[in-house]
Amino acid sequence: MAVADTKTKIYQSKIDIRLEDREPLVELINRQLADTFDLYSQAKQAHWNVKGINFFQLHELFDALAASIEPYVDMLAERVTALGGVAMGTVRMAAAQSTLSEYPSNISTGDEHLRVMTDRVAAYAKSTREALRHAGELNDPTTEDLFTEISREVDKNLYFLEAHLN
Ligand SMILES: [Fe+2]
Repeated sequence: MAVADTKTKIYQSKIDIRLEDREPLVELINRQLADTFDLYSQAKQAHWNVKGINFFQLHELFDALAASIEPYVDMLAERVTALGGVAMGTVRMAAAQSTLSEYPSNISTGDEHLRVMTDRVAAYAKSTREALRHAGELNDPTTEDLFTEISREVDKNLYFLEAHLN
């Protein structure tokens, strides 16, 4: 299904960031918004479906991971709108734009879910670090700071997951 082009509209604003920078910033943040919403739903998927002797600990771990990611969906969407853009924030919009691989439905053990979530969180940590550098190049230290905050949290999440596998 086609999703409206995020370039379609940038609202007028007195914000002291140039329109030429706001346009690519809105695209950048919307891309990360899609990945963030997707990652949140994948952590919930792991939370619901993990089985095995370590069920309860991993059920809780994946829920804590989802809870730590969820606030950034709102923060990123509102950064888009603060820059005059249109937030692309529905589940279908996120699905259409997300760069993350789909979550497998045929896995069950704690080890399998840990490995898939580690892979997804590592990919998200990488794209977040790239996004923060890009925001700096686009002369928006405020967005760069938001991505830096997310990066710090996601690196910690990656460490929590990998600590189970090492
Ligand atoms: Fe739950």
